[in-house]
Amino acid sequence: KPLFVFLVLHILCISCDSLLLTVIVLCMTDNGVLLIHGADYGRRDSTTCSLNLPASQLQNVQCSKPISILADSCNGKSNCTVKVSSSVFGDPCFGTYKYLEMAYSCHFHSVTCEGSQAKLQCGQVIVVYWANFGRRDNTTCPDGNTAQLQNVTCLSPNSPENVTNSCNWQNSCTVEASNTVFGDPCGGTYKYLEVVYDCQDHSVTCEGSQSNLQCGENTVIVVSWANYGRRDTTTCPGQYTIANLYDVNCFWSGSMEYVTNSSVDPCVNIYKYLEVFYTCQGK
Ligand SMILES: *[C@@H]1O[C@H](CO)[C@@H](O)[C@H](O)[C@H]1NC(C)=O
Ligand SMILES: *[C@@H]1O[C@H](CO)[C@@H](O)[C@H](O)[C@H]1NC(C)=O
Ligand SMILES: *[C@@H]1O[C@H](CO)[C@@H](O)[C@H](O)[C@H]1NC(C)=O
Ligand SMILES: *[C@@H]1O[C@H](CO)[C@@H](O)[C@H](O)[C@H]1NC(C)=O
Ligand SMILES: *[C@@H]1O[C@H](CO)[C@@H](O)[C@H](O)[C@H]1NC(C)=O
Repeated sequence: KPLFVFLVLHILCISCDSLLLTVIVLCMTDNGVLLIHGADYGRRDSTTCSLNLPASQLQNVQCSKPISILADSCNGKSNCTVKVSSSVFGDPCFGTYKYLEMAYSCHFHSVTCEGSQAKLQCGQVIVVYWANFGRRDNTTCPDGNTAQLQNVTCLSPNSPENVTNSCNWQNSCTVEASNTVFGDPCGGTYKYLEVVYDCQDHSVTCEGSQSNLQCGENTVIVVSWANYGRRDTTTCPGQYTIANLYDVNCFWSGSMEYVTNSSVDPCVNIYKYLEVFYTCQGK
């Protein structure tokens, strides 16, 4: 059952640079895990977190420092606790009253210990948002000796690409959690593969027909990918000849506006169809 995806915006006023605040980020959905879309420490307008403060501390609105530690430690977890202050993040603008802004949403999650295979399956299609083959705590996949569990900052930057290549836009996929697939980001560590993904709806409309995407009440359609063309020989066979179905590499992909640009025919004489991948998101 697809999760209902909300983008949550969270703003935390930092009352004092030297005070160490603890912020808890939490997924309220059952079995949902966090995906941090962005986190920024500084000041980007003069009104946020401005109550009773002197103008001099609100003037600098071009103070911004992306905080990657939030994604590194929170992605893939149902909740996480992060320490917040200039002493942790560094001070991007001394003398300015700062705040932490972050945006996150909740999604499905899979964990696979090194040497096993991750099997993702959706009723519709898989969209991978984040993945890591490495180790971020010493309790997940605890087999192996203590030394093999010690490096809990083992991150591998290529992991998302390696997983999206075999999983995106499929109903199911299998990926081996191994050095062969991902390379070895930290030798001597017993690793595991974490994947944050969604199951998205998929709509197919044959050339000449109208597509009709639907979402429930109080939700909006968010298109993540669309293609007008042909990617296989079985979808929309129609009354057309084999020759018409032959070009299965007919792509005209991107955003919905781009794909439905009627002045473009990506493959002349091929009977095409429009595919749209989308989710229904809360308003
Ligand atoms: C936070 O996550 C841990 C496991 O990662 C879980 O045991 C705990 O119950 C969660 N806490 C809340 C408040 O959801
Ligand atoms: C795991 O980490 C915690 C906190 O860093 C530490 O107290 C504990 O001893 C570690 N356990 C193992 C098996 O290394
Ligand atoms: C842990 O692994 C990372 C590679 O992802 C490496 O940069 C780091 O130095 C390692 N830390 C320790 C304590 O071995
Ligand atoms: C994993 O990703 C890296 C970087 O994109 C790439 O060099 C490597 O070939 C990929 N591995 C596989 C098995 O696709
Ligand atoms: C449609 O495609 C044509 C040719 O590529 C381009 O010139 C035009 O700007 C496009 N229109 C839109 C609305 O994208």
